[in-house]
Order: sequence, then C-alpha cells, then structure tokens
Amino acid sequence: MSLHNRRVLLVITGGIAAYKSLDLIRRLRERGASVRAILTDAATRFVTPLAVQTLSGNRVYSDIFSLTDESEMGHLRLARDADLVVVAPATADMLAKMAGGIADDLASTALLATDRPILVAPAMNHRMWLHDATHANMALLEARGVKRIGPNSGALAEGETGPGRMAEPLEIVAAIETLLSAGPLKGRRALVTSGPTHEAIDPVRFLANRSSGKQGHAIAAALAHAGAETVLVSGPTAEPDPVGVTVHRVESARDMMKACEAALPVEIAVCAAAVADWRVEAASHKLKKTGAPPALKLTENPDILRTLSHAGNRRPRLVVGFAAETENLIAGARKKLASKGCDWIVANDVSPGTGVFGGDANIVHIVDAAGVEDWPALSKREVAERLAARIAHFFAA
Ligand code: C5P
Repeated sequence: MSLHNRRVLLVITGGIAAYKSLDLIRRLRERGASVRAILTDAATRFVTPLAVQTLSGNRVYSDIFSLTDESEMGHLRLARDADLVVVAPATADMLAKMAGGIADDLASTALLATDRPILVAPAMNHRMWLHDATHANMALLEARGVKRIGPNSGALAEGETGPGRMAEPLEIVAAIETLLSAGPLKGRRALVTSGPTHEAIDPVRFLANRSSGKQGHAIAAALAHAGAETVLVSGPTAEPDPVGVTVHRVESARDMMKACEAALPVEIAVCAAAVADWRVEAASHKLKKTGAPPALKLTENPDILRTLSHAGNRRPRLVVGFAAETENLIAGARKKLASKGCDWIVANDVSPGTGVFGGDANIVHIVDAAGVEDWPALSKREVAERLAARIAHFFAA
C-alpha cells in the first residue's frame, strides 16, 4: 500500500488516452490512494462519468456551474483537498490553458486554484506535441514546477507514429509514488552522474563513447523513488528525464564536473557516467580535410569521482563509483576503490557480447571494504532499485 491514505485529484481531459485513466484509477486505489476525478466536457465523450465514478468510488465532478457539486464540495476545496493533482491525459489544449492561466471550466479552474503539486501526462498527436506552441507551454509549466511524465513514442491513434502516447498507467503510478514518496531516503540529497560525455574536436566533431545513460538514469529514478531529493547530471543521452529528479544536461567532462560541484552538498553521490578520460585541444574552426590528417592532442579530464571522494568537509557521506571492465573485473574494481577513494564500486563486465552497453540488462558485483557481493543478472532498473535499497540500508545502519 505504497500510497496509503494519499489523496489524488485526477483531472481527465478529452483525448483517446482517457480510457487508460480508468486503469490508472484502479492502480492508484489498489495502492491505497483515494481518487477524486474531474472530467472536462470533452473527456465525457471518451469515458463516461459513471465508469469513473464506479472505479474511483467517489462522485465525479465536471460542471463548474453545478449547484449540487458546489454545495457538496466547492471547486476551491476540490482543488486543495488533495496531496497531488494529476492531469491524465493532458491535451495540448489543457496545457495551453494551464500555461495561459485560463479558467473557463471546472478542470482548468481547479488547476489554477490549486496550491498542490501538479503532474501532467501529455497525450496528443505527435505534430501537436512537437509544435512550438505546445513546446513553449510545456517549458513554461515545467519552469513553474509542474512535473511531467511522458509522452512516450510509438503508434498513435490516427495510425501515425511518434512522441505523443500517454505514459502507461503503471509508469504514471511510479511517478506519483516518487512525488509522494515517504521512502527511506526522505530528507537526504543525492547526486547521480549518467551518460557519456562529448569532447569537442572542433565546432562540429566530438569524441564520445557508447554509454546510453540507462543505468545512471535508472539509479536517479530509484533514489528519487526512495525519497531522496535527487540531482542528475547527465551527458548527452536519449533517455527521458526521470520524474521528480532535477536534471542538468551537460556535454563535456568539465561541464559535468562544474554541475556536480554546484550540486554539493549532498549525502549520496553515485558516479555512473562514462566520463571521457581525455579531451581534445579543440580547434576553434572546422578542421579541413585537405593535407595530412590532423593529429589530435589529448589532455586528461578532471576525475569527478575522485574529486567528490576527496572533497574534504564537502565529501558526500557515501560515494559510489562504477568500474566497467572487459577483463580482471574484481581486481580492477578493488584497485579503483583505492585509487578513487570512494566507498563502493559497482563493477560490471562490458565485454562485447554481454550486451551491457546500451542494453537493458546488467550483471554487477558490489565491491567495498567488507568484500564482494555478486548480484545475479538483473534489468538495469532492478540493479538501480537494489542499489537504492542498499544505500537506504547504509544510512539506516
Ligand atoms: O577511471 P575509470 O573511468 O575507469 O573509472 C570509472 C568511474 O570513475 C566511474 O564511476 C566514472 O563515473 C568515474 N569517472 C569520473 N570522472 C572521470 C572518469 C571516471 O567520475 N573523469
């Protein structure tokens, strides 16, 4: 009952994804949450108030001018009597109204009147999602603190493909759990690095590596889910920003270092990024193909993990590094533990054929002063959850 006694106000707006909101209601109630729902007029064309009312176990609100609604529960109380307001699906129209402060029906009025955190799950045709207007509205809302989950990419209702599918009910539930978390790391601050870095060769070329950022992003999501206030410093990746996590996107190792230092103080640091060991003395103009190939002059990059591990009185209480090796995994990890000065090393075998780089699975070994813990083959998400649990256990001890 991860959402026991939590009150969710669910605003359902008029999109075909509204049918998934029925399942969302069930999932929330299974976890102990109480759900009140507001339907826009358009939403009632896609799902019936009766279905929503039956599943939520509460009467459904949709008309701002309803005398009975107002006498039972005024729209202001409706807006504030919740721990979280979730808009799912959130149409382009509703995002525009929210951004513009328009309040012309019960749903938009409640969203303007609420002082509770808001999570939106956008769902629309990909052209609408990618339109500058929607992009600007969403950016404005996020800058004001509205949280977003999705949209996912895939097949859309009209037979087209692209970003615009509403996040799945269980993904929305996980985001809600993160935002309402009373988990074991509540009150603690965490920093996670993720992804590769790009080191410029000239204004158009760069050196990079195959890191996808999947493991680092999953760790940030798991720490936030466990209640930690989490900052994710990420190199260029295609991974979406985890909900409830403050994300700083950077390119180079030096930018990553700066963003990490700016995030201090934290109690937990997990360095999962594949930081380029070297950078290039970059040319200020595009190198030409004429003549002999240019010689790249490499300089060593700052070591973020080592710097954090030796940050004096700003040192996080727990610093976790990664060791991606193709041979002598454990011996290499032990060496790294000492040379970096961190507390734990998560060692993983990235030999070709393991599919770890870019894949969804991972086999890791946790190396610390006490010894080695071998974990079975797990998904990167499971590795992240187990790591967050181990971190919570460390702080509880
Ligand atoms: O030195 P190596 O790259 O093998 O060490 C890997 C660990 O060190 C990872 O945790 C990685 O995030 C971190 N690292 C770092 N800054 C660097 C190089 C590696 O934080 N410049």
